[in-house]
Amino acid sequence: MSDWIDAVDENALANGENVVIDVDGTDVAIFKIDGQFYAIEDVCTHDGAEIASGRLEGDQIICPRHGARFCVKTGAVKSPPAYEDIDCFPVRIENGKVQVRDNRWD
Ligand code: FES
Repeated sequence: MSDWIDAVDENALANGENVVIDVDGTDVAIFKIDGQFYAIEDVCTHDGAEIASGRLEGDQIICPRHGARFCVKTGAVKSPPAYEDIDCFPVRIENGKVQVRDNRWD
């Protein structure tokens, strides 16, 4: 089981912003939406683009390369040309820090 990793100060992101951090060798994008934090892998399942650099519309991120859409809250794919979900990760607030953990190998 991987440890929780400090990602960013709780107050460092405005709504709609994100930050990408390394979690045990995986780039993870942490988004703030309506005061809540969500974490997905920073990779588009269509062809590997860095999804965090795309445009956010509500709770959907639009891939900057070919326009696939994903739900930031769940990683679920919402429109082609991607057909597979992005992995999403648990997030918590601890002592003013947003923390994330890679639970894929638990
Ligand atoms: S790499 Fe994201 S839609 Fe093609």
